[in-house]
Amino acid sequence: MSNWQELEQKYFMHTVERVPVTLVRGEGARVWDEDGREYLDFVGGWAVNSLGHCHHVVTGAVTEQAHTLIQTSNQFYTIPQIRLAELLVQNSCLDKVFFCNSGSEANEGAVKLARRYGKLHRNGAYEVITTMGSFHGRTLAMVAASGQPKFQQPYLPLPASFINVEYNSIEAIKKATTSQTCAVLLEPVQGEGGVNLPDDDYLTAVRAWCDQMGILLILDEIQTGLGRTGTLFAYEQYGIEPDIMTLAKGLGSGIPIGAILAKDRVSVFAPGEHGSTFGGNPLAGAVGYATLKFIIDNDIAGNAGRVGQYLIAGLEGLKPKFQFITDVRGRGLLVALEFNGDIAQSAVMACLDGGLLVNRVKPNALRFMPPLIIGNDEVDEALSILDKALASVAS
Ligand SMILES: Cc1ncc(COP(=O)(O)O)c(C=O)c1O
Repeated sequence: MSNWQELEQKYFMHTVERVPVTLVRGEGARVWDEDGREYLDFVGGWAVNSLGHCHHVVTGAVTEQAHTLIQTSNQFYTIPQIRLAELLVQNSCLDKVFFCNSGSEANEGAVKLARRYGKLHRNGAYEVITTMGSFHGRTLAMVAASGQPKFQQPYLPLPASFINVEYNSIEAIKKATTSQTCAVLLEPVQGEGGVNLPDDDYLTAVRAWCDQMGILLILDEIQTGLGRTGTLFAYEQYGIEPDIMTLAKGLGSGIPIGAILAKDRVSVFAPGEHGSTFGGNPLAGAVGYATLKFIIDNDIAGNAGRVGQYLIAGLEGLKPKFQFITDVRGRGLLVALEFNGDIAQSAVMACLDGGLLVNRVKPNALRFMPPLIIGNDEVDEALSILDKALASVAS
């Protein structure tokens, strides 16, 4: 058998510290490595496998569409992307859709749309306010948007016009707003930054400020959307509506697809001003449609909310035993467990030993983002492995 991990070292740019396991198969919330060892997957492809691995709805849509039509240029009408756009609009507060291939690309497009709106309706305003600790992607502009020095430092100087301000502070947004501001870009819950929840009134205050100033509110729901936090979109829980929303990750349950959604009055792109070769191609469109339809028809968001509460309660239950746990937080099945020291990597390795995949979101915190179709049984199993893992890390 090939030594895949050695070959990776030889051929890959070293952009990620991988967990030393080579995964070859998945089903539901479980994956298997090349030696046939089974793992319970609470990483879920970084919050992508909304329906788990190789769900029949996804494989069925891939197979059928792969035998029918995979790619045309977007110069032609194709049906799957139109059906998906209709379903997205019918189930959100937004009116128009643009498809692309990833989260970063969706956010880039959203910022372009906001700048185009600024040019047409706000005297050429172009600045975008974002928050510290946010994560909006890896393109150069989205590195500038993401308020995390570790992603920005290697690439200074960055594209101008992104203003990173303190998270969860409406005052900071007010202070940064100028006549050049065209939009505020926010994750409803910061995912990659450590599962950071804002105060309950933060998003309402931001919405009110944007309305008062005539600037756009872009919600990056790439991680929080598609049921992850217990409602189809996280904005529903805050009683506000964005002007623009971006999606990716869970939309294709593993098949790459991203989307920009916008209100009618904000959908100001003219032909030729934005585009994508692969965006919403028939294959991605068909899988996106099948995934979203299944999520809606089976109240997968409700399941994520209920099982997420069960997970949070279970993690809270570990606190008395492991005094080094300092915080449990999250919404739905986007949950973090924080420690008083940098033991997350050891915890990841100990969980791996026990047959559970978890993500080290910060040196002192784990993140759980399992498939949204799991039940309490899988949570019990994960908690039992985690319990033993934390005991071994503590000793
Ligand atoms: C909130 C958020 N926005 C954007 C991105 C970037 O998405 P992608 O990696 O698909 O470009 C991510 C990825 O983790 C994310 O969590």
